[in-house]
Amino acid sequence: MSAPWWQTGVIYQIYPRSFADSNGDGIGDLRGITLRLDYLSDVLGVDAIWLSPFYPSPQDDFGYDVADYIDVDPIYGTLRDFDQLVEQAHRRGLKVIVDYVINHTSDRHPWFLESSRVKDSRRRDWYVWRDQPNNWVSVFGGSAWEPHPSGQFYLHSFLASQPDLNWRNPEVEAAMLDVLRFWMERGVDGFRIDVAHFAMKDPLLRDNPMKSTLPSDAYKLNSEYAAMEHVYDKAHPDIHALFRRLRRTLDRYPDRFSVGEIHEYNWQQWAAFYGQGDELHMPFNFALLPAGIDPVRIRAAIIGMESVLPAGGWPNWVAGNHDEPRIASRLGKPQAQAMAMILLSLRGTPTLYYGDEIGMEQLEIPPERQKDQWGRRKPGFGRDGCRTPMQWSPAHHAGFTTGSQSWLPVHPDHTACNVELQRGDAHSLLELYRRLLRVRKAAPALTMGSIEVLDSPPEVLSFRRSLGGSISFETRANLSAEATVIEPGGRIAVATSGEREGQQFDGYLEAWEAVLVEA
Ligand code: NOJ
Ligand code: CA
Repeated sequence: MSAPWWQTGVIYQIYPRSFADSNGDGIGDLRGITLRLDYLSDVLGVDAIWLSPFYPSPQDDFGYDVADYIDVDPIYGTLRDFDQLVEQAHRRGLKVIVDYVINHTSDRHPWFLESSRVKDSRRRDWYVWRDQPNNWVSVFGGSAWEPHPSGQFYLHSFLASQPDLNWRNPEVEAAMLDVLRFWMERGVDGFRIDVAHFAMKDPLLRDNPMKSTLPSDAYKLNSEYAAMEHVYDKAHPDIHALFRRLRRTLDRYPDRFSVGEIHEYNWQQWAAFYGQGDELHMPFNFALLPAGIDPVRIRAAIIGMESVLPAGGWPNWVAGNHDEPRIASRLGKPQAQAMAMILLSLRGTPTLYYGDEIGMEQLEIPPERQKDQWGRRKPGFGRDGCRTPMQWSPAHHAGFTTGSQSWLPVHPDHTACNVELQRGDAHSLLELYRRLLRVRKAAPALTMGSIEVLDSPPEVLSFRRSLGGSISFETRANLSAEATVIEPGGRIAVATSGEREGQQFDGYLEAWEAVLVEA
């Protein structure tokens, strides 16, 4: 049996608001995406697209506050537009993954409207209500409990307008599993499950214990949230049985896939979400985010992850998404090239974020144009900067919209940094991504082979990918600002400086230079 698509393929995340606007209202939409599919399948050469939410929503959290799970927000189009997108994607061999927001709905979802109406509402127990708050805090800051005129408090792990669903109520589970079936019937190939592990909390809703000291590596969390041990407000062990039921629902349809957004940095606990191969197909592996471009930390991430992976468990890697500062800004431009090489030659499915393939930069958005409520509540935490419109060309609004305004400003560097200019320029990041994707796809060792981290000087990351009977590859990345010389050998298949491709590797690596050699 050949390996499934979600193991051999590369996933590309689209933030629908920001990818391509087909009707000039300044907001990206589904038809815009359909019109750009050739870019994804033929120019870039990815295998699957993941669409962040496009469901009806008040857009308080830009679609992660869903008011109807089984429709399309008129801003983005219609169900018919969605069907066409799926049809056109499939015609090009692209799989379609949609976001499945399980932990919470919008407070304007009919379920919540009914639940909150009166205390003895038929759907009261679809959400989490309590007479008094406990000490849980929201990821976005402040108490996780919102007082309500009905006399009780409801739980919201994120914004107050994102009430948490009560997955301990079997009716909630049944309704949410119906949502999966609805989209699978429409041809959807997989689901990215938003904050998947948050769905099960302590049934007694006990207070979280406080940490005695604040960890220095509290990655991207506000201090209030980082100050407590999150033992009761998420990831109750019952989550595993829930994931198994979810998996059984998916498995009734051929070749479907699930990936959970799970920010868990303890490898053992992270690996538990694979279950015995009967839970999530994979939990997102975010270890490259805090690792930056530090070779020691990246090496530790590879070894750490590989050592806990259960039998049959398939790895994956993420270097950017709609919640993280852009790679090119976080790491730097030459570093972003090295990261592309690492990400696309590691063992496991890579998920790319739109625009990172051209090195789009983070944009500093003036306060009056900021949209993300997290940033408006907690300065410094805003995520607008990585969600600016895709830069297609040097034209007006980067070719994203023909309208007079885009929902977030277009990065002024779009005149230099865009798809049109980078295409065909051998030195561009886009062409590096294209070469890497092409070589990866053609090389069984890179898609399915094993990985071995090789001994190397401390500033160099070096690993080998091999699969019996096919050519092996070695990645050698100088992750430092100084040139270095390492063991020579092997024909260079892909190099961050393209002119070296086809040559024998002489051991010399410029600052931040990386090569993929046939070993
Ligand atoms: C994680 C999503 O990636 C993020 O964008 C969102 O704000 C939260 N979940 C809440 O849904
Ligand atoms: Ca539009």
